[in-house]
Amino acid sequence: AAGIVTGLNCSRISAKSFADSDFLSVKFPLRTFNLPPVETGESIQGKQVFKLNIQQGETRILPDTTTQTLGINQSFLAPVLQMKKGQTVKMQVNNQLNEPVALHWHGMILPASEDGGPHQEIAPNKTWNAEWKVINDPSTLFYHSHTHHKTGEQVWKGLGGQMQIIDEERDKALNLPHEYGVDDYPVIIMDRSFDEAGEFYYNNQRMNKMQGMHGNVMLVNGVANSVLEPEKTRIRLRLHNASNARFYDLVFSDLRTFELIATDGGLLSQAITTNRVRLAPSERAEIIVDLSDRKSISLRTVKGYGNLSMGMMRGMVRGNLDQTFDLMHIDPRHSERVKAKTLSQLVLLPDWSNQAVAQTRKMNLEMQMGPQMMFGNGGLSINGQSWDMNVVNETLKVNTFEIWELQNPSMMHHPFHVHNTQFKVLERNGKPPLSWELGLKDTVTVHKDETVKILLPTGPYSSSSDAYMYHCHILEHEDAGMMGQFIVV
Ligand code: C2O
Ligand code: CU
Ligand code: CU
Repeated sequence: AAGIVTGLNCSRISAKSFADSDFLSVKFPLRTFNLPPVETGESIQGKQVFKLNIQQGETRILPDTTTQTLGINQSFLAPVLQMKKGQTVKMQVNNQLNEPVALHWHGMILPASEDGGPHQEIAPNKTWNAEWKVINDPSTLFYHSHTHHKTGEQVWKGLGGQMQIIDEERDKALNLPHEYGVDDYPVIIMDRSFDEAGEFYYNNQRMNKMQGMHGNVMLVNGVANSVLEPEKTRIRLRLHNASNARFYDLVFSDLRTFELIATDGGLLSQAITTNRVRLAPSERAEIIVDLSDRKSISLRTVKGYGNLSMGMMRGMVRGNLDQTFDLMHIDPRHSERVKAKTLSQLVLLPDWSNQAVAQTRKMNLEMQMGPQMMFGNGGLSINGQSWDMNVVNETLKVNTFEIWELQNPSMMHHPFHVHNTQFKVLERNGKPPLSWELGLKDTVTVHKDETVKILLPTGPYSSSSDAYMYHCHILEHEDAGMMGQFIVV
């Protein structure tokens, strides 16, 4: 413990800026909900071509100053990329930064060479072309930096956005709101902290390496304290936890119920009526909210869930970052009234109950406390191995199914993500999965002391020369080595 305290006190930027909640005393004026621009690509010779420029900029996030930020086709964050199943998309990613970048399509099933992991690094001033046929079902996905040792920092500064695979006809037939910016809204949630000069505070060493970077300013689509005035009273929100490390326990301020219709991989077989949904970093959930009572409400996260709520973490962080925060407000007073609709069966999810299982693997998510964690590189590993660019940890067989047993003997919760697949959660500590993880998933939280079993299709693409990643999606854990790689042959 002495080492931990010293670590905090001697870090280059004072612990104060991170932990004393300086900017909580800042009054954020109410702002209009920020609707990210949509890009659908340009149709060229049967392909949808997206031009993505990774750039630097300055953005007004705090009320009285600007912050140096990173973005894609804009100064901070990124447009929503919309595409359709069956399209061939081509991403022309141009790196205008003076450091290398990798850009990953989180949740996509695609050849490893196009995946945008740390092996597909783009040098400054270079363009990387990624091309694949979209075979995923309609869903809300995530694209973000995946640069060797730099993922956490680059995402924190702005290199991430939402991707949507859409099917308007199907949604119409199913009675689901589906008009972007009219009754269908991305809600990309992240927390950030700032130093006294108003620049992002980012430090992935010592305490922050262990607990992951958390901030005390909550942003939705890049804006703090915003109000959505939807055009309709029946809306679909694509909730997306794009934070580096924070877990959210989401409710509305009046605890109203809503319909949960989709998770990471797309629609559930049936809508679930609930009044809360928990999202770990990188998880998504689509919900339908009925606002026909025209009451103004807030979307908020309730304290008491996630790593910061654990006694041990609380004791080590000055200032309490485990708080109830309002993320955004919704004011439907002028919205066009739309009748609530009962949803029937949504989709038929594939029945994998009789699938032959080609392989069972155990993944042990480990943290070694002590000097390695606090002062060295690493301290975080899977099955005793920290990520090594040159080591292929697992070899999967193409077009098969595997069961992975995710075990967490460490003292923190870890959201475990696997590239190139949408899997099914089979059980959590021998019990059925939680209600918000019944659909297809690409990330699942493995709480402290839990064992979670997932059933995972290995997909149609094989390659022995390129690897896919699996890792904890607390980005500081990923950067510090809680990641492995696999090939599919
Ligand atoms: Cu969202 Cu390997 O990433
Ligand atoms: Cu991914
Ligand atoms: Cu982790």
